[in-house]
Amino acid sequence: MKIFIISNRLPVKAVKTESDNFEFIRSEGGVATGLSSLEMPMEKHWIGWPGVYAENDAEKETIIAHLRPHNYHPVFLSPNQIQNFYEGYSNSTLWPLCHYFFTYIEYENKYWESYKEVNKLFCEVAIPLIEPGDIVWVQDYHLMLLPQMLRHTVEGISIGYFHHIPFPSYELFRVLPERAELLNGLLGADLIGFHTHDYMRHFVSAAERVLDLRFKLDQVLLDNRMVYVDAFPMGINYSLYHDAILKREVQQKAVELKKSYGTHKLILSVDRLDYSKGILHRLRGFDLFLEKHPEYKEKVSLAMIIVPSRGKVDRYAGLKTKIDETIGAINGKYSTINWRPVYYFYHSFNFEELVAMYHIADIALVTPLRDGMNLVAKEYLAAKRDAPGVLILSEMAGASIELRESIIVNPNDVGEIEQAILRAMEMPEDEQMHKLRLMQKDISTQTVDKWAAGFIQEMNKIRSLNEVLKRK
Ligand code: G6P
Repeated sequence: MKIFIISNRLPVKAVKTESDNFEFIRSEGGVATGLSSLEMPMEKHWIGWPGVYAENDAEKETIIAHLRPHNYHPVFLSPNQIQNFYEGYSNSTLWPLCHYFFTYIEYENKYWESYKEVNKLFCEVAIPLIEPGDIVWVQDYHLMLLPQMLRHTVEGISIGYFHHIPFPSYELFRVLPERAELLNGLLGADLIGFHTHDYMRHFVSAAERVLDLRFKLDQVLLDNRMVYVDAFPMGINYSLYHDAILKREVQQKAVELKKSYGTHKLILSVDRLDYSKGILHRLRGFDLFLEKHPEYKEKVSLAMIIVPSRGKVDRYAGLKTKIDETIGAINGKYSTINWRPVYYFYHSFNFEELVAMYHIADIALVTPLRDGMNLVAKEYLAAKRDAPGVLILSEMAGASIELRESIIVNPNDVGEIEQAILRAMEMPEDEQMHKLRLMQKDISTQTVDKWAAGFIQEMNKIRSLNEVLKRK
């Protein structure tokens, strides 16, 4: 028995170099980061887009040759598909919809056509690889039609789907012209998973109202098979982050960083560049903090790591300009010869640098306006190990349901962010350690491996139940 993870992106992406070769680097984002370190007790394959347009067969062959030894199977997208499926339907229609950015939603027929076409393409790449008895686990909103397509073409496989972003309430979901097709697409799976019970409830309510189905709690009977829905909050590879500071190179990096930031406190924020992450609100919150508490000038800096993302989608490109301006304005207003209020990094950090930053940061400011889960919050807590630190976390992130000992804020209220920073700055060390330990205890048991194992165990259970149902 093999498991196939199918997601839009593979965990590595090919990047074209100036000499027209390819370099392979780790992909960003929750799905790739979280799932790439997964330990599976069975042969694991991964099907996904390698993140680049391969212009000809020779380029495709180069990419395939690099990926094959890892059991990664690339799905090549054309420029038109990248534009209309990835930047279009996935990230200009579904992403704003699921993150409650109602006015950002774009409806274009060519987006939807391309979405159907690419879901079919993924299905075609998967078909020759999958055998009866295998498990197929489809990931995320790019591939909502795929479970049903697989169900209709391959027999005897278990199909799971996990939605890594919020599932919006019915009242919002219903605005989508293709709402029924998407719901039917998902219902091709045996098990549909979400990060929280709220997202799961929203899905059930949308399916009941749009498709006129009647769920019995978390299950519904469809064509002689049961479909199950459940909440599986995703975790991280805890020991990877927790033990990182034991590595000499990470320790060295941490010492260097501490030296360069001087004696003042450090607030850290790490995101992909995305309007759902609340970056501008966060900056305004920090600005307000410095304005209202001038005694903290020269005593604290905000280090903002922003990873470039979806730059060809208009909403993202525009946001970048605003962030640049806002950071420039804050630094212009408060900087002194000895102190810079905001350190701005518009690129990703390698693992060692990132965990060193997590380790030395006194405060992590994680304030998305909406976020399916947010693994940065968990990574920060794990990487702290025995060092004190405070997590400020948005109540709009799925992670806030688990991380109750963090300082929870409504990210729309910059005054609340300002107050939270003040509280974090003044929190006694023993209180920081106490809260940290409680949260570390939770996330060290609810790891990404446990998350995946729980999902697959439930799929196996459902397979047996549905086999009994079929025999009846
Ligand atoms: C979020 C989504 C992922 C996606 C990631 C990175 O975490 O849930 O599915 O891969 O963002 O976004 P990108 O558009 O660069 O793949």
